[in-house]
Amino acid sequence: MILVTGGAGFIGANFVLDWLSLCDEPVINLDKLTYAGNLETLSSLKGDVRHIFIEGDIGDRALISGLLQQYQPRAVINFAAESHVDRSIHGPEAFIQTNVTGTFQLLDAVKQYWIGLDVAGRNSFRFLHVSTDEVYGSLSSSAPAFTEEHKYEPNSPYSASKAASDHLVRAYHHTYGLPVLTTNCSNNYGPYHFPEKLIPLMIVNALAGKDLPVYGDGQQIRDWLYVKDHCAAIRSVLAAGRVGETYNVGGWNEKANIDIVKTVCALLDELHPRSDAASYAAQIKFVADRPGHDRRYAIDAGKIERELGWRPVETFETGIRKTVAWYLQNQVWVQNVQTGAYRQWVSKNYTDRSE
Ligand code: NAD
Ligand code: DAU
Repeated sequence: MILVTGGAGFIGANFVLDWLSLCDEPVINLDKLTYAGNLETLSSLKGDVRHIFIEGDIGDRALISGLLQQYQPRAVINFAAESHVDRSIHGPEAFIQTNVTGTFQLLDAVKQYWIGLDVAGRNSFRFLHVSTDEVYGSLSSSAPAFTEEHKYEPNSPYSASKAASDHLVRAYHHTYGLPVLTTNCSNNYGPYHFPEKLIPLMIVNALAGKDLPVYGDGQQIRDWLYVKDHCAAIRSVLAAGRVGETYNVGGWNEKANIDIVKTVCALLDELHPRSDAASYAAQIKFVADRPGHDRRYAIDAGKIERELGWRPVETFETGIRKTVAWYLQNQVWVQNVQTGAYRQWVSKNYTDRSE
């Protein structure tokens, strides 16, 4: 079996759902159930003996060691993290706690477990760390996309904490020989994306008749990848990635934020027109920029394609259409994640952003 951390969050839950739809290898899913973790996303697995959910913290050394001994997984895939840049600006401490200290505790417990395996078990074991393109910092408009050789230049507390975790993972391979793999992926979108990130926030706000807050001039560029393509990339790296290597994962799909928002509006105009027949684009509002906002990310995903034959299946056009349709069809999920804590966050992040 495999142990997945953070499997009640956006990408982790998509990974678990896809994994169990493709094979019968059981998954132990360890998640702290922070504001971003949602068991409802996993409700289709209720009663499925292949899915063992454990509520807990990757920083809880005793818990992790116990789970490793009890279940003897052949791999650990670490999705668990604090993942929202804006939250890291308002409150960086949780990011250090989970992304740095938590990853360290997890790694160290895994190392102890791995040392105790027999030779065959040690050779086949993998620790796959799911990371981000944000560790590389920001690109100018003409710079080539990030390769795996790009220097680390993180700019936000979030990306700095992820960079620290990447370095720890690297060090555990270099120093102790732990068979690690790291993936650095660009912006994901798709089903079960928590509606405080750009694309789901725009869909949810548009349908609620609220402003669509675009930071700064809206010309910041992200490289968007449909979440199920990211999950497929992780499966490829787990199956055949070279130990100790990092693999960049991206969609070959750079878009300015304002164009993303306009695309979402156009799809909503088509699939769920406003009652007054005006475009949802009328709700776009430019607001104060994110402090330290990275201007451009772009991933060169050539290495994973050359070595492992992975390429995204979805184009942005097909992926964003599926995503908007999913949100329209899953309004109950959306309502259920908009708890009091969610509303408090929206108020904290957007109240002081003047036009
Ligand atoms: P998310 O915020 O939606 O989910 C994170 C999950 O981790 C939640 O279920 C949360 O409850 C859990 N968690 C948080 N702290 C924990 C802890 N201490 N112990 C156990 N569980 C904990 O994040 P996501 O968007 O699904 O991202 C998953 C991973 O992928 C993260 O490591 C993130 O850095 C990375 N990543 C995300 C993107 C993206 O676009 N969302 C892109 C590249 C990489
Ligand atoms: O690049 C990978 C990263 O992508 C992941 O590592 C992070 O976990 C993930 O959250 C995401 O980070 P971003 O900061 O790029 O995502 P977010 O959806 O928060 O913002 C996307 C862009 O949209 C960014 O340039 C900020 C802008 N934005 C965001 C929000 C929430 C707005 O203009 N308005 C908004 O209200």
